[in-house]
Amino acid sequence: SARLDRLRALPKAEVHAHLEGCFEPLVLAQWAASAGVPMPRPRERLFEFEGLADFLHFLDWACGLASTRERLAELSYGFSKRLAASGAGYADVIVNPTHWKAWHGRLPQMLDAIDAGFSAAEQDGFAPVGLCVSLLRTQSADAAAELVDTLIALRHPRVVALSIDGNEAAAGRTGPRFAQAFRRAGEAGLRRTVHAGESSGPEGVRDAIELLGADRIDHGVRAIEDPALVDLLVDRQIPLGICPTSNLRLGVYASIEEHPIDRLRRAGVVVSINTDDPVLLGASLEGEYALCSQAFAWSDDELRGVARHSIEASFANADLKARLH
Ligand code: ADE
Ligand code: ZN
Repeated sequence: SARLDRLRALPKAEVHAHLEGCFEPLVLAQWAASAGVPMPRPRERLFEFEGLADFLHFLDWACGLASTRERLAELSYGFSKRLAASGAGYADVIVNPTHWKAWHGRLPQMLDAIDAGFSAAEQDGFAPVGLCVSLLRTQSADAAAELVDTLIALRHPRVVALSIDGNEAAAGRTGPRFAQAFRRAGEAGLRRTVHAGESSGPEGVRDAIELLGADRIDHGVRAIEDPALVDLLVDRQIPLGICPTSNLRLGVYASIEEHPIDRLRRAGVVVSINTDDPVLLGASLEGEYALCSQAFAWSDDELRGVARHSIEASFANADLKARLH
């Protein structure tokens, strides 16, 4: 439609999307068949999830099938292609090595395979992508230290950030456990982005800021429950990477009307709009912009403001940011 075309044309970036969320159902069915692995559910219900824990369990199954360099490169290329179709000029993409069983103990090779897909996509004229390598909430302090050691030794040009994702409700308070790893990553020049305020309340967002030095918060929506925390986000201009459809599909909010993105925006928080796990959750970037602008009756200026925030919130370098606006 004309409205979606306008949203595609809006200068913007995506700052919260997982490579794990990009599997096409037909491709998964083919990979499962060729591996002799049963599908967890019939194909027509493959992407019906009962909440975050069930969703994360599915990621382990799906990522376990991506056992070759070609499959990883194909997945990465596919992400860039979809991003281009949505009119984004850049993306930060999260990848969490714990989900990818076939690559355990081979992080450099895994990153090279992903990099090959993104590089091929850039050569074909699609937008550049930065990788955020992610810890799972439930990992140990030692595992975090080991990942950071590997990233620092590797200095892979594709990697822009250290990330945390996974289920905060299952892991309890993890800020203290990961504080040292995040400090070292920051000192080594990596940016830091932290899932919080999705499966935790506002206290997870506060820990992400105070203990993990987060440059950006992924989700962060439940910060709305603590007015002093909202003030802190505004004072420090720490951006939130918000994913409306994900929050609805995974049960954080029951309806878009109840979603706090517009209340946070009006309070002065730097909010951006993102897909989280675009294929698995059925979210396109322009579709997410349409959902919000319609639900909250945003003016053209307000819509452009949110899109501008997404570029500012990204880990693209300053030159690229200037070109994206
Ligand atoms: N991994 C992929 N999507 C996620 C989400 N929405 N929350 C936590 N971990 C994730
Ligand atoms: Zn996420």
